[in-house]
Amino acid sequence: MNSVNLYLGTKSLHIVAIISWMAGVLYYYRLLIYHCEHRDDSKISQLLSKMERRLYQYITVPAMSVAVISGICLIVITPDWMRQKWLHWKLLMVLFLIVSTFYGGSFLKGLPAGITSRKLRVLNEVPTLLMVIIVTLVVFKFS
Ligand code: HEM
Repeated sequence: MNSVNLYLGTKSLHIVAIISWMAGVLYYYRLLIYHCEHRDDSKISQLLSKMERRLYQYITVPAMSVAVISGICLIVITPDWMRQKWLHWKLLMVLFLIVSTFYGGSFLKGLPAGITSRKLRVLNEVPTLLMVIIVTLVVFKFS
């Protein structure tokens, strides 16, 4: 495999992993909203907890790991990217996205008493907004 194909193959993997990570984190927050709205119904609550745990452990976190590792591989293959300002901003936004994913994961232990579905709806917008900023940065490559 020549280096161009290696780069493009890694980038394809990167994009597939990002799609899975975003689908996982956005659907996960949506499940938390349903969970919060039905927390008094123990049957629904149990089912939603199971769905949340499986989605988070089997899709969201593995996809996030592949997205980060493949992104690092793209930089290793083309180290010149590290000189570009858009990538520095992107990495900062990715850090916030990772924090937002792990913060959501902290609710697997149980929804805290003070949390409302309104607060969860606002939290759900954070990864959406970060995704829009990151995709704009990688496409426009502002420097
Ligand atoms: C540590 C994490 C990450 C690193 C190190 C990283 C790094 C990179 C690099 C070096 C490229 C190649 C740019 C090019 O060939 O034009 C790239 C492409 C891309 N990245 Fe990431 N990335 C990371 C996470 C993310 C995340 C979280 C998203 C979206 C939410 C994202 C979205 C994209 C997209 C859409 C492309 C394709 C851009 C294009 O072909 O024009 N990346 N990434």
